Amino acid sequence: MYQRNPMRHPNFLDTTSSLLSLFLFITILVTSQIPLGCTGQAHSSNFTCIESERQALLQFRDSLIDESNRLSSWIGEDCCSWDGISCNKVIGHVVKLDLCNSEQLGFEFYSHWYHCRSCLAGDHLSPSLVNLTILRHLDLSLNNFSGIRIPTFLGLLKDLRYLNLSNAGFVGEVPHHLGNLSHLRYLDIGVALRRIIQNKLTSNDLEWVARLSSLETLSLNSVDLSGAQDVFRAINMLPLLKALDLEGCGLTVPHLLHVNSTSLSSLDLSANQFINPTIPPWLRNLTGLQDLNLRFCYLGGEVHDTFEQMTSLVKLDLYGNRFDTSTLKCICNISSLTSLQMSENNLQGSIPSEIGQLRKLTRLYLFFNELNGTIPSSLWELTKLQTLEVDRNSLTGVLSEHHFVKLRELNSLYISYNFLSLHVSSSWVPPFQLRHITMDSIETGPQFPNWLRTQKEIEVLFMQNVSISDAIPSWFGVHFNYLKALDLSRNNLEGSLKSFATAVADVDKEAIKIESLYLSYNRFTGSIPEDLCRLKTLMVLDLSNNHLSGSIPLCLGNLRHLVALSLSDNNLCGQIPSSLGNLEELGTLHLSGNKFDGKLPSSMQNLIRLQILDLGENGIKDIIPVWIGERLSDLKFLRLESNNFRGGIPDKFCQLLHLQVLNLAHNNLSGFIPHCFNNFTMMVSREAASADLLMINYFELRLLNLKGGRELEYSKNLLSVKSIILSANNLVGEIPDEIMDLVGLQIFNLSKNHLNGRIPQKIGNLKQLETLDLSMNELNGEIPPSLSGLNSLSSLNLSYNKLSGPIPSGNQLQTLTDPSIYEGNIGLCGKPLNSCPADELPTENGRTHS
Ligand SMILES: *[C@@H]1O[C@H](CO)[C@@H](O)[C@H](O)[C@H]1NC(C)=O
Ligand SMILES: *[C@@H]1O[C@H](CO)[C@@H](O)[C@H](O)[C@H]1NC(C)=O
Ligand SMILES: *[C@@H]1O[C@H](CO)[C@@H](O)[C@H](O)[C@H]1NC(C)=O
Ligand SMILES: *[C@@H]1O[C@H](CO)[C@@H](O)[C@H](O)[C@H]1NC(C)=O
Ligand SMILES: *[C@@H]1O[C@H](CO)[C@@H](O)[C@H](O)[C@H]1NC(C)=O
Ligand SMILES: *[C@@H]1O[C@H](CO)[C@@H](O)[C@H](O)[C@H]1NC(C)=O
Ligand SMILES: *[C@@H]1O[C@H](CO)[C@@H](O)[C@H](O)[C@H]1NC(C)=O
Ligand SMILES: *[C@@H]1O[C@H](CO)[C@@H](O)[C@H](O)[C@H]1NC(C)=O
Ligand SMILES: *[C@@H]1O[C@H](CO)[C@@H](O)[C@H](O)[C@H]1NC(C)=O
Ligand SMILES: *[C@@H]1O[C@H](CO)[C@@H](O)[C@H](O)[C@H]1NC(C)=O
Ligand SMILES: *[C@@H]1O[C@H](CO)[C@@H](O)[C@H](O)[C@H]1NC(C)=O
Ligand SMILES: *[C@@H]1O[C@H](CO)[C@@H](O)[C@H](O)[C@H]1NC(C)=O
Repeated sequence: MYQRNPMRHPNFLDTTSSLLSLFLFITILVTSQIPLGCTGQAHSSNFTCIESERQALLQFRDSLIDESNRLSSWIGEDCCSWDGISCNKVIGHVVKLDLCNSEQLGFEFYSHWYHCRSCLAGDHLSPSLVNLTILRHLDLSLNNFSGIRIPTFLGLLKDLRYLNLSNAGFVGEVPHHLGNLSHLRYLDIGVALRRIIQNKLTSNDLEWVARLSSLETLSLNSVDLSGAQDVFRAINMLPLLKALDLEGCGLTVPHLLHVNSTSLSSLDLSANQFINPTIPPWLRNLTGLQDLNLRFCYLGGEVHDTFEQMTSLVKLDLYGNRFDTSTLKCICNISSLTSLQMSENNLQGSIPSEIGQLRKLTRLYLFFNELNGTIPSSLWELTKLQTLEVDRNSLTGVLSEHHFVKLRELNSLYISYNFLSLHVSSSWVPPFQLRHITMDSIETGPQFPNWLRTQKEIEVLFMQNVSISDAIPSWFGVHFNYLKALDLSRNNLEGSLKSFATAVADVDKEAIKIESLYLSYNRFTGSIPEDLCRLKTLMVLDLSNNHLSGSIPLCLGNLRHLVALSLSDNNLCGQIPSSLGNLEELGTLHLSGNKFDGKLPSSMQNLIRLQILDLGENGIKDIIPVWIGERLSDLKFLRLESNNFRGGIPDKFCQLLHLQVLNLAHNNLSGFIPHCFNNFTMMVSREAASADLLMINYFELRLLNLKGGRELEYSKNLLSVKSIILSANNLVGEIPDEIMDLVGLQIFNLSKNHLNGRIPQKIGNLKQLETLDLSMNELNGEIPPSLSGLNSLSSLNLSYNKLSGPIPSGNQLQTLTDPSIYEGNIGLCGKPLNSCPADELPTENGRTHS
């Protein structure tokens, strides 16, 4: 459904830090739910159940932790009517126990990791289940039996046909006892959510699988099979196997193999290591295959006639490999294909016109390649096409009405980030109803696209930077019954947001699904409409860089699901309402560049998940509250620049171990710089924040990206920037030596204070420093020679202090030749100032004669 789920890429979080991929990642998270399916609630029958089975179920229930009271119906005599139980209509035995946690299905996992909603848990499972003597169907999926092993007694449930333990948190070696289930047709112990639920199942020997001779569907997704030698031998023993999922099992897939499994119709080998980086020849013998998934296998080279005999192939997924356009041409011969995924490969040049041979194609994914030229006319002839994703290529041309005439079935159109434009008449009535439209940076203005009026099923609409200079028309939003994500940022939209907010909020209350709203970088005026507070499902709200005025509506605190809120760079005023303290899921809060005044509401100490807090450029008048250090312990990025904060920097700040950016510049802070700043562990490290932090704020890069180059902190990747900026305050005392432990520091600015004493000798430890500004203080003594060892230093300012002696020379310092960086120090000499008197020349080892 949503093909672009990088959660399914095992290495995604380990290897990816490029903004581009993050961007993609964010897009996906905004638009996708995890595609999983429960079998749904079991139906009850009219039997009063068998007493021993009732007892067994009660014992089983008692071994579970059921915080959300999901099993509240498990009372009374008739266990056949309990939720999740089905009995055989003739003999009254329990045949089905379905405790699949369907609550978890619609779950949104944006909110800082995955909250288990209505999960059953427990530290053991009661073996009383074996008393359900003819149980055929057991589903415990999507629960949290975190840390326990799959119980061996399950192997005694001999009548089982269906066993689903997926996404349920089981760990350890899979018990071989499961091999006794000789009637089993469906076995799923995989983890489709592996980056979220820690799956630590392993199997070092698949002999038990070989015994499951009735098996038709087997999913071992993410079970660690790296220690098993006999994987394919075991699988070959399963004569009825139709669907096999071995995604991310740590397999080494052999190039040569004897396979005789012609029954196999669905095979997923994605994210495993292939011995040879070309498609293994044995695949070609799987002539019954309908669905083949080889994502992220790093395969490339020629495919020759691999697919020639796979005349039943309907779905081919080669996402994240290295295939080129000649392979795509070969694939265009598989006329049975309905879905082709070749995104993130080495596709260059034009989309081959042979694509038109795939007459049955409903889904085509070619994003993130280097395709150029115009889209071939044969593609517009694919009348069955529902999904077309060609974003992030270099395609050119003007798209207009006639291209789409035959695409009546189209529901997802992804064309962002190409050199395309879309020009259609204002009276265009497209033949399709789109659900997903992403066309960021595709020129289509200046009028607001009138054809959107005809699209009544939109879930995702991304039209960032499409050159619209217009007001939002009154019809827009009225029929957004399905809208989940809207991005109209970076246009020249003008006028008030009021009628738009009213229209969107007026959608039937039950139906509101909108999760993210990006309207930044436009010219909206007026106040923040209170109607926005009715969008209770919002997780991201970005209204930054507009001309909004007035105060923050108190009701914004009702948006309990907000993960990211940005109101930066508007003309908002008044106090920050204490209701914002209700937003306990908030990870990112940008209020900078407004006219907020008054104190910080103490309710903000409830925002314990905050990682980014930017209150810069306002008129907030307060001391720096100690609760920032005590309570906001996840903070990575704290910016209070240019306000009226006074008093000292609390020592409690040193509890912010994750802090990477601390900017308190341009306030009226007094007192000493705390000595405990070496507690900022992230600044002690030279490494960028580990990529798993990305999980926590999917949205901030979309926000940060938009910040342009105004601040150095913003212009860098937030994951890697490390800075301390305390300039323009009234700080006194010496520069604490402890700061010299922060060897990852890149920006260090203490200018315009009243600091005295010497520049610490160990300043040379800060090898990552790019900017060092200690100007306009009262520092005295010599400049430590170790300064010349700062090889990344590109900006230095030591002017207007009381420094004396020779300026160290050599290395990077030689490139900093502007004398003004030293001026205003009476006693300094040497390049680039006047040369030193003979007796003050620095010697080889940097010490001066005296
Ligand atoms: C097992 O359960 C999961 C989650 O409920 C579901 O997505 C999956 O399709 C099930 N597996 C089988 C083989 O039915
Ligand atoms: C089952 O019970 C319901 C009422 O509880 C009744 O309407 C229905 O006819 C019964 N069905 C059978 C098959 O007995
Ligand atoms: C599952 O349970 C464990 C142990 O109780 C807990 O640490 C973990 O957070 C839970 N997982 C989820 C997703 O709720
Ligand atoms: C199964 O039921 C019998 C009697 O009904 C009982 O003695 C036994 O303990 C039960 N077994 C388990 C594992 O609960
Ligand atoms: C089930 O399998 C286990 C391990 O494979 C074996 O030791 C046991 O004897 C089997 N039990 C039955 C009842 O077949
Ligand atoms: C497949 O080949 C294996 C030998 O590798 C053999 O033991 C097995 O019986 C064969 N299965 C079928 C279904 O022919
Ligand atoms: C494919 O099948 C043919 C005919 O059954 C057999 O001769 C050949 O060895 C098989 N090739 C591979 C790679 O398994
Ligand atoms: C496609 O199939 C035709 C006919 O079988 C063949 O002549 C042609 O070479 C094939 N093209 C590719 C690119 O494999
Ligand atoms: C398209 O890309 C190919 C291969 O990268 C290149 O040779 C060709 O010049 C490009 N064509 C255009 C029109 O840019
Ligand atoms: C906006 O789109 C134009 C193409 O229409 C592109 O050149 C420009 O780089 C885009 N700007 C941003 C900020 O993405
Ligand atoms: C420094 O960090 C430790 C935890 O690593 C914490 O216990 C201590 O209180 C912090 N120091 C200060 C002065 O806050
Ligand atoms: C800064 O604080 C000092 C007292 O520490 C006070 O005298 C001064 O007026 C304050 N300056 C401003 C601009 O608020």
